[in-house]
Amino acid sequence: MKVGVLTGGGDCPGLNAVIRAVARRSAERGHEVVGIREGWLGLVEAMFEPLGPREISGLLPRGGTILGTSRTNPYKLGTVDAVLRNFEGEGLGALVAVGGEDTLGVAARLHAEHGFPVVGVPKTIDNDLSATDYTFGFDTAVFICTEAIDRLHTTAESHNRVMVVEVMGRHTGWIAVMSGIAGGADVILIPEHPISVEEACDDIRRRHERGKDFSIVVVSEGYELEGMADESEVDQFGHVRLSERGVGARLAGEIGARTGYETRVTVLGHVQRGGSPTPRDRVLATRYGLKAADLVHEGRFGRMAALHGDAIVDVSLEEATRELKTVPEDWYEVAKAFFG
Ligand code: F6P
Repeated sequence: MKVGVLTGGGDCPGLNAVIRAVARRSAERGHEVVGIREGWLGLVEAMFEPLGPREISGLLPRGGTILGTSRTNPYKLGTVDAVLRNFEGEGLGALVAVGGEDTLGVAARLHAEHGFPVVGVPKTIDNDLSATDYTFGFDTAVFICTEAIDRLHTTAESHNRVMVVEVMGRHTGWIAVMSGIAGGADVILIPEHPISVEEACDDIRRRHERGKDFSIVVVSEGYELEGMADESEVDQFGHVRLSERGVGARLAGEIGARTGYETRVTVLGHVQRGGSPTPRDRVLATRYGLKAADLVHEGRFGRMAALHGDAIVDVSLEEATRELKTVPEDWYEVAKAFFG
């Protein structure tokens, strides 16, 4: 059988490790593996390339995706027919779609409406896909943010400053909470459990009253500050570009004005997605890739590889994309124990 692989949505450390694992295991089973360029766009415009031993060599530590990616939504473009036609025209018998809620949402719909032979792999630094404990890429993003928070501590302390760190997470505060706990943040603001700016200022004041002259505040890009309007363009999945709203800078301005403490902002941005995956993400991505290849070989389509505890299992794509996985109250309580 000819098996296609595509990577869609924002890039994410570990994508190449998935591609390598799918290609290695499928080739062992006698399948031919073909790369599809730039997410769903590659099926809309018939952009294919071979994924043989030479192409997949040296991929494990490599960041980004050798296949390229895009936020193309064939449903929004009205090009589902082209996807189905080009898939058949290339002689493909199965597809492994590696992506987050958007990319896998398209996969789930194609499977439900057309019986499309697709298997999913959960990718996103945001860790907001339900039906899996962790997505790959998240561990790397948390590692990068934690290192940044550690570095900001020493400069914050030297200058007696409040440092606001804005981290990614389109709808959820997973990166903020995990890196904030790991880095010892003094306040963390996330969309799911929104404390007010005044409450954050109270925590900072309390800390300064007990003799600490600096504070680290982590804010998730999706946190809503009062009066903040979404004016940026939306992508084909209807998402605004959150990095352009500048929540970190606005929050730093508010904290500085309300507390009188000197405040600075650092926006970590796409640094969180770039570069080599952590060992944990390489291993998770590899296990997901092998599972996806197994599901394809067994003809079990409409499924997604998932992590439950320590086990790699499979769940339905429909279930995985039904709702987002938000940060539960008990995780936020762990973070809150160290506020102020
Ligand atoms: O979904 C992953 C993510 O990195 C979000 O955390 C962030 O809001 C978004 O992608 C950024 O998208 P872009 O790469 O289009 O700027």
